[in-house]
Amino acid sequence: MLTLAIIKPDAVAAGKAGKVLAHHEQSGFTIRAATFIRLTTGQAEAFYAVHRDRPFFRPLVTFMTSGPCMPLALDRDDAVLKLREVIGATDPKEAAPGTVRALLAESKERNAIHASDSEDSARREVGFFFADAALINT
Ligand code: CMP
Repeated sequence: MLTLAIIKPDAVAAGKAGKVLAHHEQSGFTIRAATFIRLTTGQAEAFYAVHRDRPFFRPLVTFMTSGPCMPLALDRDDAVLKLREVIGATDPKEAAPGTVRALLAESKERNAIHASDSEDSARREVGFFFADAALINT
């Protein structure tokens, strides 16, 4: 099963992308597709459309367009649930020890990584960045 992760602009700018990738690989995920992109405002608004009425929407779009990020399609059994366990709670202060956010995130806003929150979101979000043809079969 596939899920989508995005190594966010704070982690890329801080030179932590490799550490995040290593964490995923050590947690049993196979990288099926990866890219490096600076999102446009329109792309970030579309990706996070579900949050458009939330007070943090505009700062989130500004942050996600502030520099390059790395979307990844990650594969393993129970991928959506497992990736959310591996990355930890949205706010690094609440994230379990050893999770990506506990280790590498600065704040709830600059929290190093995104992960799909359901299987429906994962299908939509993987498709947002990767055509079927871009997914490597391993
Ligand atoms: P992410 O998994 O990318 O999904 C939505 C993002 O909004 C979330 O991670 C946070 O980085 C960001 N965000 C900022 N403030 C909040 C908040 N109060 N509650 C939830 N998400 C927030």
